[in-house]
Amino acid sequence: MCGIIGYIGKKKAIPVIIDGLETLEYRGYDSSGIAYYNKKKELKIIKEQGKIAILKNILNLNEESNLGIGHTRWATHGQPSRINSHPHNVGNITLVHNGIIENYEELKKHPLVKNYKFISKTDTEVACAIINSLYNENQDILKSLEESQKLLMGSYALAIIVNNDFEHLYVMKKDSPLIIGVGNKENYVASDVPAILKYTKKYILLNEGDIGIVSNKNIKVYNQKKLVKKKILEFEWDLEAGMKNGYEHFMLKEIFEQPKVIEQTIKEYINDYDFINLPDLTKYNRIDIVACGSAYHTGLIAKYWFEEYCNMEINVDIASEYRYKKNFLDKKCLLIVISQSGETADTLASLRLVKEKKIDTLAIVNVVGSSIAREAKNVLYIKAGPEIAVATTKAYSAQALLLSILAFKTSVDKKIINIKEKEQIINDYHNLSLYIQDILSNTKICESIAKKIFKANDIFFLGRKIDYAIVMEGSLKLKEISYIHSEAYPSGELKHGSIALINKKTPVISVITDENIALKTISNIKETKARGAYSIVLSSLNMDNNKECYDDLIKIEHIHSLVEPILPIIYLQLISYYIAKLNKRDIDKPKNLAKSVTVE
Ligand code: F6R
Repeated sequence: MCGIIGYIGKKKAIPVIIDGLETLEYRGYDSSGIAYYNKKKELKIIKEQGKIAILKNILNLNEESNLGIGHTRWATHGQPSRINSHPHNVGNITLVHNGIIENYEELKKHPLVKNYKFISKTDTEVACAIINSLYNENQDILKSLEESQKLLMGSYALAIIVNNDFEHLYVMKKDSPLIIGVGNKENYVASDVPAILKYTKKYILLNEGDIGIVSNKNIKVYNQKKLVKKKILEFEWDLEAGMKNGYEHFMLKEIFEQPKVIEQTIKEYINDYDFINLPDLTKYNRIDIVACGSAYHTGLIAKYWFEEYCNMEINVDIASEYRYKKNFLDKKCLLIVISQSGETADTLASLRLVKEKKIDTLAIVNVVGSSIAREAKNVLYIKAGPEIAVATTKAYSAQALLLSILAFKTSVDKKIINIKEKEQIINDYHNLSLYIQDILSNTKICESIAKKIFKANDIFFLGRKIDYAIVMEGSLKLKEISYIHSEAYPSGELKHGSIALINKKTPVISVITDENIALKTISNIKETKARGAYSIVLSSLNMDNNKECYDDLIKIEHIHSLVEPILPIIYLQLISYYIAKLNKRDIDKPKNLAKSVTVE
């Protein structure tokens, strides 16, 4: 949830660290800090509550320094404040931490730290104190870190500076992402590759339990007391992909990247008229799909596709529920986990739980080499490229698309979809990015709707079946970036209570793509109109005979129902974006949110 960066080498460390922190700001931004050795070999720790810009203002970016660590925080233990910000220092140890030390209260009573007086409310300071005591006893940092692994429960990615050691950075990882960037006579440490892309594309992925010793010329990684050989990987995206490219916000840029992302995903899994790189799912009787937030919403869409086109039982669950629920899995079940970051704590925990039972697992992930990607039995990448805006857009569409292709292939394998229909669907996939480009070439309709409704206190979303799954994402998108209260309802459910909230001019946004139940949704919309609602309808169907059910109509291209559901969300993303913009919200970094939720 937090962002970590470290640098050792010939450059001035402070600007490198600030650059990295700015790239990582999406991971958390309620406070930030930096620790470095200056020219006189004095250790400086500077931290501040608030965004990185505040920290940057109080730093001297020109100050000579060749070794430092930095942190941008998303508070878990202890409110955002300077004292609770990282780096934390206890005695000889200064460190930054991402993750949660679950047994920190218990550890405060450990004999190793019994005489230490804690000054912050964080779990991190406890880890720092424990490592410091071990180091004071051992006078050997590697041994101390190894011993600390037995004491620290929970998750951690740590970057550490040791007093009077001007030649090394130390890192340690468990259940939180951490990489070492490989440079020329300089090296980096970061939670995420984009943080160091400006300087190097080469990196080493750290595994669970790894401890790294990083100097400017050398990287040594130990695991369970043994030196391990690490592969140097190369990041396939360039920095430009992680920058705004002239767009006002990353979110808008990422919305506009969707045609390209869709093309890339299709190219990866469909070759002309054949499937490639995809597993056979026909051997499973049942699939559990588990994810959080928007990724969960793509699972809900997939449920309809698999049930409709593959005759398979699908259970979709929110990961934070699934991991604590009784499950009835057997060897004929498959678990699919969906995660953009590949680091979401609850999704990862659900995956591990199911893996332990020796049930097959398949991960749908964006970030290559992320924990979920590495731990699942099989992994399929969505090829969306780095997503920086906290609110997901392109990763959501790519996840939905990949699930659609998987359901399609399974249906073909089961001989439910025939050759003729198969060709039509593949044509629709190949044209999908053009349809999306079409939507993006005329954003006026979304802007004008946003202008009409941006002052609303509540905005409701309605749909049935797959359309309900789509509007759930529309509603989440809206509330997370505009801070307007919003709820999505299966349209038939509204009158069982919540219709009481519909007042004159309350915006109600409905999606109607499913022909079979369109008339039912239309009746429900009319019920809200009768109570004064302002109705916006997105539909691929002919609405000429139902003009009285909408104030604004957005026409969606009518294509095969395995592909069409990817279209309405593009409009909903744009409407949310413009509403948030009119309300002057911090669109790329909405309050209280972080991009990668690596804590429970
Ligand atoms: C909403 C959003 C979140 C994520 C959720 C899961 O716009 O981005 O709801 O979808 O936190 O994240 P990943 O996909 O990284 O597991």
